[in-house]
Amino acid sequence: MSRKTRRWIFHFFLCLGIVYLKIGGLSSVVALGASIICNKIPGLAPRQRTICQSRPDAIIVIGEGVQMGINECQFQFRHGRWNCSALGERTVFGKELRVGSKEAAFTYAIIAAGVAHAVTAACTQGSLSGCGCDKEKQGFYNQEEGWKWGGCSADVHYGLGFSKVFVDAREIKQNARTLMNLHNNEVGRKVLEKGMRLECKCHGVSGSCTTKTCWTTLPKFRQLGYILKDKYNQAVHVEPVRASRNKRPTFLKIKKPHSYRKPMDTELVYIERSPNYCEADSLTGSMGTQGRLCNKTALQPNSCDLMCCGRGYNTHQYSRVWQCNCKFLWCCYVKCNTCSERTEVYTCK
Ligand SMILES: *[C@@H]1O[C@H](CO)[C@@H](O)[C@H](O)[C@H]1NC(C)=O
Ligand SMILES: *[C@@H]1O[C@H](CO)[C@@H](O)[C@H](O)[C@H]1NC(C)=O
Repeated sequence: MSRKTRRWIFHFFLCLGIVYLKIGGLSSVVALGASIICNKIPGLAPRQRTICQSRPDAIIVIGEGVQMGINECQFQFRHGRWNCSALGERTVFGKELRVGSKEAAFTYAIIAAGVAHAVTAACTQGSLSGCGCDKEKQGFYNQEEGWKWGGCSADVHYGLGFSKVFVDAREIKQNARTLMNLHNNEVGRKVLEKGMRLECKCHGVSGSCTTKTCWTTLPKFRQLGYILKDKYNQAVHVEPVRASRNKRPTFLKIKKPHSYRKPMDTELVYIERSPNYCEADSLTGSMGTQGRLCNKTALQPNSCDLMCCGRGYNTHQYSRVWQCNCKFLWCCYVKCNTCSERTEVYTCK
């Protein structure tokens, strides 16, 4: 067969394929697209890939939720030696921290909350198929408090359930780290659930509250960030407990002699102590603090002393120039002076 014929046959079957897909309807085109997209996303666990293929519309929302979690993490830790970045395996959830530290605990919780938040928000906006407003509430009357459910209540249970199925699906290993990750994912989702708020509106002549309708809304994600940051500061060190016969760890307990308490489902947990994040180290996933901006005067985590781990800092001087003392002159122009200021910034050696 000549090369030309082979190419012709190839094109013929390609066209046939496209026609076949068109007859098959939009869904198969979407499904084909989804399987290509889902196979291209790096770091998806096998079960997550299956979910991605069956719900291609959700994968975009999931991505937004993950990004929201990472952004919040970077905001909360912007002054820390660890700034929510890591050297490590690349996954859908960003770079993975290898050490089962408090920092990893925070990351997992905020991302699980982010996915649940984004999915719930998309449902409320009607931009995700298979969900919408919370139907359990619509139209019902709250006898005790005298108001009616109205508007669009956010269906947080759908979002939480989705986060549980998708985010938890990557925990396939049966080890202590898996128990830790699953626990922290749940903490993140609990924080979201507890943060749901009730919003109400009064109806009646001139603002009198003859009838009142209420609906549930999602909390601001920033608020969840602060709550989880507090939980990070109080995270508890745990260790795995193995059932005697098989060696697989089955649950976590507080790591203290003579303590058999399990961690509470409101506490972030970690199984390994954090590295100090001073130097770059690919074993722990630490990026180090070289080149980070620090503050010479503050006694905060971002002070040059703490941030640079005693290595000292470089001083960069520059002058800031801006228009100042502007006056409006009759008529009609504005006259300004030029002001300048010498500023210094410091970066870790
Ligand atoms: C975090 O710190 C690393 C290492 O110094 C730096 O390369 C990175 O840009 C920082 N990331 C953010 C989001 O500030
Ligand atoms: C350094 O910290 C001081 C005191 O907290 C603060 O007033 C100042 O704005 C900070 N400087 C920079 C560059 O962040």
